[in-house]
Order: sequence, then structure tokens, then C-alpha cells
Amino acid sequence: MILDRHDRINSSQIKARLEAMDSPEHRLPVHEVEEFIDLMQVYEGAMYEISTKLEILDSEFQVRFSHDPIHHMERRLKSVDSILGKLKRKGLPLATKSIRDHLFDVAGIRVICNYRDDVYSVSNYLSGQSDIEVLRVKDYIRNPKQNGYRSLHVIYAVPVFLSSGPHYTPVEVQFRTIAMDYWASLEHALRYKSDLPDARLAEHSQTLLDCARSLQNVEAQMQSIHRDINGAPRSEETPRATQP
Ligand code: GTP
Ligand code: MG
Repeated sequence: MILDRHDRINSSQIKARLEAMDSPEHRLPVHEVEEFIDLMQVYEGAMYEISTKLEILDSEFQVRFSHDPIHHMERRLKSVDSILGKLKRKGLPLATKSIRDHLFDVAGIRVICNYRDDVYSVSNYLSGQSDIEVLRVKDYIRNPKQNGYRSLHVIYAVPVFLSSGPHYTPVEVQFRTIAMDYWASLEHALRYKSDLPDARLAEHSQTLLDCARSLQNVEAQMQSIHRDINGAPRSEETPRATQP
């Protein structure tokens, strides 16, 4: 199952949004609007290419091992506002070239797997495919963040074939288990959406850290039962970036 967290590319909506931005220095140059829309279409294509590859891997596992490694996927394109906001935060010129050269998460897919073994098998099978490259890997499962966040982040470059030829385009894929996703959603809500006093925030953050550890234990126990009853191949390796 794929949940789309965005609408299909709509040129007139993007154009209207770009033109509605307040002052000229906070906008993309007018002559780059068309180029921006073309670029978004390529990111969308890249996102579909990767999610199709993931769906094919999932159904192969289902057919061969009677096991669905992927519980569901979510995909989204970054909004116009967050793209420009991120360029500003990073002190980069508001230009399509900056997006191309410095933003690797315009196209994003979240792959929610049933078990930790599935995270590593699916990410390794995808990483091994001959037509894509692995640009960057951050394994927050092996090395959780201080707040307890766990997920495997991989940035892939996938060719999108247009009339002008192949365009290698980055897609950020976050692989995580259901438990990691459950945890990350609440932590995200606490971080971005709450106006609680500092003391309560600190208390909740500590509780969340404890929850992260408990979830990790529960997950390990359930994983071990699952290994005993299902013979799907497993991998515990972190995927590696493709050598330049
Ligand atoms: P940015 O994309 O600019 O944030 O930097 P980055 O690419 O170095 O970040 P990283 O790969 O560490 O994380 C990218 C994404 O992972 C974020 O946009 C979030 O969706 C997710 N993420 C990272 N850390 C956390 C966290 O502590 N909590 C939650 N809930 N999500 C996180
Ligand atoms: Mg990001």
C-alpha cells in the first residue's frame, strides 16, 4: 500500500505559489519558474521509479517466501515553501541550480517494514540494483540519535528517462519498522507542534527515550519469534554508498 502525502504535480498551482511569495528577494527568479516546474516533474518521476522498485521487491518476497517485508509506504514531494525555506536556512541562492546541487530530499519515500530484518533486506536489495546509485547512508538504527530516533536513511540516485535522455535524480528513502514509525510520529508532534512549558517538554522527551529502548526490546523479541517461523532471507548489513 502506498500513501501519497502530496498531490500530482500541478504547474499552475506551483506557478501561483511561486508568484505569491512576498518580496522579490524571497522568490525564485521569474525566468526560472518553468525550469523549477520541469525539475519537480523529474523528482516526481524519480520517486515513482523507486517506489515501483520497492513494490516489486515486496511482491517477490510475498511470492517466494510468503512474507511481506513492507507494511506500507508513504511518499511526498517537498512543498514549494519548504524547498525555498530550506535554501534560505542553508544560505543558498534561490535558484534551481541550488536545489539540484544541494537538496537531496525533494523526493522522499518512507518505507515502513514489519521487522528490522526487513529494513536491511529491502534496503540492501534495492541498493544492489545495477541502474541506481547509493549516494549517502545514515544508519540511525545501528547508531540511534540521542533522543532515541531510529531509522535507516539512504539517498539513492535513479535515472529518469526524458526525451532529452537520462537525468540522475536523488530520492531520500527512510526505512523503518512499524515501531520506529510509531515512535517517530509522536516525537515529531512533540517537537514541532507543542507549546508545552520547557519542564514538561523535558519530561516527555525523557519518557520518549525510555519508550525507544522498550520498543527496541519488544521488537528484538518479536523478530526472533518471526525468524523461527519464517525463512525469508535476512541481512544485517548497513547498505554502503556506491564508490565514485
Ligand atoms: P535535513 O534534511 O536538513 O533535516 O538534514 P539531513 O538530511 O542531514 O537529516 P537526516 O538524514 O538526519 O534526517 C532527515 C529526515 O529524517 C528529517 O527530515 C526527518 O523526517 C527525519 N528525522 C531525522 N531525525 C529525526 C528525529 O530526531 N525525529 C524525527 N521524528 N524524525 C527525524
Ligand atoms: Mg531532510
